[in-house]
Amino acid sequence: MYLHGTSRVNEKGHLEIAGCDAVELAQKYGTPLYVYDEQLIRSKIRSFIDAFKRNDIPFQVAYASKALSTVAMCQIASEEGLCLDVVSGGELYTALKAGFPSSRIHFHGNNKTVDEITMALDAQIGCFVVDNLYELHLLNQLATEKGKEVSILLRLSPGVEAHTHEYIQTGQQDSKFGFDIISGQAIDAVGKTMELEYLKLLGFHCHIGSQIFETEGFTLASKRFLQIVEEVKNKYEFEIKVINLGGGFGIRYVDGDNPLPLESYVDAIVQTVKMECIGKNLKIPEIWVEPGRSIVGDAGTTLYTIGSSKNIPGIRKYVAVDGGMSDNVRPALYQARYDAFIANRVNDEPNELVSIAGKCCESGDMLIYDIELPEPKTGEILAVSCTGAYGYSMASNYNRIVRPGVVFVKDGKSAVVVKRETYDQIVQNDNEINYEEFTCPLSG
Ligand code: LLP
Repeated sequence: MYLHGTSRVNEKGHLEIAGCDAVELAQKYGTPLYVYDEQLIRSKIRSFIDAFKRNDIPFQVAYASKALSTVAMCQIASEEGLCLDVVSGGELYTALKAGFPSSRIHFHGNNKTVDEITMALDAQIGCFVVDNLYELHLLNQLATEKGKEVSILLRLSPGVEAHTHEYIQTGQQDSKFGFDIISGQAIDAVGKTMELEYLKLLGFHCHIGSQIFETEGFTLASKRFLQIVEEVKNKYEFEIKVINLGGGFGIRYVDGDNPLPLESYVDAIVQTVKMECIGKNLKIPEIWVEPGRSIVGDAGTTLYTIGSSKNIPGIRKYVAVDGGMSDNVRPALYQARYDAFIANRVNDEPNELVSIAGKCCESGDMLIYDIELPEPKTGEILAVSCTGAYGYSMASNYNRIVRPGVVFVKDGKSAVVVKRETYDQIVQNDNEINYEEFTCPLSG
């Protein structure tokens, strides 16, 4: 059993997170429940910031809010001095509602809509990460109409294949994201940007994938970037100021996951960039990164109540909990693996091999296959660890299940930062059938 952050086993043999007994949290707020260790989130943020400071280089750390976008999380990111990566009007709206300083917001996405771009321009965000030529021209047109100069990064796909699940690797050449470097689209996009009056090119961005355990992908991408920075300098007499290497730093979900300390990624990137710049006689650019999972992943634990079970002799024992793919789709979507324990008797010896099933009407709704636990019983609390990234943010109302609440814990105190949904909220946008003559306002 591996306990993250401030988690420990208390005198009652219960899981305790930041001084709060997990069994009592489950009683008080109901299950399923996402519980976050606030101090662990802050210490991960500080690891990134300290690593850059130690390397004495201009930098920005932008929290990738897709991993967990809530008002409270944006406030923590703001207090810790981070920038914020948003990828939709909804994430931008959440950040603005949280009072996140708009000048520190970066807007990503491969198909930003006119409405989203307009919203971001009106909010005067810090920069757009432009993904394609369509967006480049659209952004310039909208910025021109508003008479506002806009800072941009160009997202490039560096042709680096990170060793991770196929659906979460993004930097390879065959990807929907970014301008391809290998076929020359990237360098052409720089030329086009320079012709557009209202766009100010700060630099380049890439994101090579997620849950990466090695530094090589990042150092290779840095080298590719500096080659293109050199090419741009020679061709356009223009020197890039920023390189943004995205996120993707891996975390420990289960035994056998061996993530590097966060500072090793930063050290490797900074050293490579410095060496390449010296070799090529380039000014050292600002280095930006965008961690999501590595900031919130292991700070999150989901608490469930154990319900039914089904034993198929010689085949498998299913133990079902009161959530599943509706609050954590990652096992079904990426075959993601998780560790779990019985929160009300953490120290008991595991004596049974079981598989944890969700409650959705779908055979693939399995949270964990084959885990050794002390015989789980109905009514006990199962804690699944490391669910902090892409759990709540990818939750759905499949089967019209309400999304769980989110509670932050710190120094023996708890705060509900997202309320559990209610059945009324499930039907609040539903209407009865009430036909009216169809006319389209635009066609008059
Ligand atoms: N920057 C960009 C442009 C990204 O696309 C992402 C993640 C990040 C930063 C943050 O990556 P992180 O540090 O969290 O690995 N839903 C998947 C992960 C998808 C990641 C998408 N992009 C999962 O649950 O594993």
